[in-house]
Amino acid sequence: MSRPRVFIARVIPADGLDPVLQACDARVWEDELPPSRTELLRAIEGCDGVLTLLTDRVDDEFLDRAGPQLRVVSNYAVGFDNVDVPACTRRGIPVGNTPGVLTDTTADLAFALLMAAARRLPEGDRYVRASRWKTWGPMLLLGPDVHGSTLGIVGFGRIGQALARRAMGFGMTILYHDVMRADTAVETAYGATFVPLDELLARSDFVSLHVNLTPETRHLINAERLRSMKSTAVLVNTSRGPVVDQRALYEALRDGVIFAAALDVTDPEPIATDDPLLTLDNCLVVPHIASASRATRGKMAAMAAANLLAGVRGERLPTPVNPEVYERG
Ligand code: DGY
Repeated sequence: MSRPRVFIARVIPADGLDPVLQACDARVWEDELPPSRTELLRAIEGCDGVLTLLTDRVDDEFLDRAGPQLRVVSNYAVGFDNVDVPACTRRGIPVGNTPGVLTDTTADLAFALLMAAARRLPEGDRYVRASRWKTWGPMLLLGPDVHGSTLGIVGFGRIGQALARRAMGFGMTILYHDVMRADTAVETAYGATFVPLDELLARSDFVSLHVNLTPETRHLINAERLRSMKSTAVLVNTSRGPVVDQRALYEALRDGVIFAAALDVTDPEPIATDDPLLTLDNCLVVPHIASASRATRGKMAAMAAANLLAGVRGERLPTPVNPEVYERG
């Protein structure tokens, strides 16, 4: 029997790569940069399964080019805004993602960004390296306290709650906003209070974003909402870049509307090297590394492989984002 044909859109950790190579006739995209659109469409032609990354757009054109034999799209990420899920569902193609395994690693990074922006760590490091450190200074690089402050979490799913767990250790008051209010047990466990978004923005010293990117959350944080935040506030984004209106954020940081921002995600990615945000000392930007621990990336790879292999075998994916494909009889 011929082995299923699959395309893997980048080199992933061996925990996922090895089982796929053992079971499939696999082509792996080995460059550091993702395939161009033309290269991607060419590579997936005739495949039974595709393992995509958040840099690969999966839409009707993609599905047409892959062909009617395509049985699964396995996305190596918990987010799947790069995939037109309804288009896959219409064709009966299950889409897999990697939920759960990156929750704590992402929350670690969100908290690290929050602390780094508050205590001005990148600025301090640049200051030392530029030979500007002449003496201990009473007014040098002052920032807000993290302990005892108020944290507003926008999007109170797995990662938002994991951030709340960290914040509890710092004695923070936790506010949250979500489209769905959490169970009372969850609110009690984290001492978290549900508030409308505008109230959260007005009361929080730190605002951390943990929403999916959807038409409703695109530019959720815009000029008006930035103006409603405290002038001492820090904004942290580890969700998706377009959740923040980046031009408005630049103006708010430049004009002291808010104190600082720390971004793991930008719009677009990578951020342009001449983006005005990068001229600001009060904006910290890292290259979408929230899930980038060795252990977590290995677990993500294993999950993505399990979804891919189940899909090409015609079995139910362990973690489908469109389980309704299995309800069509
Ligand atoms: C995701 O999984 O959606 C992250 O953004 C990358 O790990």
